[in-house]
Amino acid sequence: MLDAYLNRKPEFEILPISAQDCVSMSALHGERFAKGWGDGEFHSLLSQKNVFGYAARQTKGFFKPPLSGFVLAREAAGEAEILTIAVSSKLPRSGLGWRLMQAVMREAGTRGGTSLFLEVDDGNQAALGLYRKLGFEKVGERPSYYVAPDGSRSTALVMRRDLR
Ligand SMILES: CC(C)(COP(=O)(O)OP(=O)(O)OC[C@H]1O[C@@H](n2cnc3c(N)ncnc32)[C@H](O)[C@@H]1OP(=O)(O)O)[C@@H](O)C(=O)NCCC(=O)NCCS
Repeated sequence: MLDAYLNRKPEFEILPISAQDCVSMSALHGERFAKGWGDGEFHSLLSQKNVFGYAARQTKGFFKPPLSGFVLAREAAGEAEILTIAVSSKLPRSGLGWRLMQAVMREAGTRGGTSLFLEVDDGNQAALGLYRKLGFEKVGERPSYYVAPDGSRSTALVMRRDLR
């Protein structure tokens, strides 16, 4: 009985993001990306009415569960875009990226979006795997778009998916 409790798989809930999540978003973003965004940048994004997002948090075992993942998107005139998505490196391939994307795609459609765009480094296998599984297709390429801390450059792929 105790074994079953201790070894049970964590459960997560996906909820709309709020301004109170900005510090946690900035911390998780800094953990997953070479170029961090400050909590002020997240506040500024969330103050825009057409920006929205979702957070993944563990449901049990914590008084105040840490942020396990989040996604932010923007919708304008029928076109939506993913601004950023990150899942904790402690929870690889747990399905949170998929669930966060499903939530944001549904909301983008509800807000009138008919297509969803994103940009991804062509060497980011995890993100490319996720986006391809979700049905995104490459619609453009920006060579030498990203600059790594060591100065090396990589290509950004622009991907798109229908929301209808
Ligand atoms: C990209 C990211 C959000 C994926 O989140 P995740 O929660 O691990 O993804 P999921 O568990 O939902 O995986 C869904 C699918 O994506 C693909 N995928 C996920 N990780 C993968 C990996 N390391 N290699 C190849 N495919 C992968 C698989 O198709 C997977 O489905 P499967 O496990 O049934 O095969 C996460 O790796 C991350 O935060 N990376 C750092 C930040 C980042 O690169 N963000 C994207 C910027 S464009």
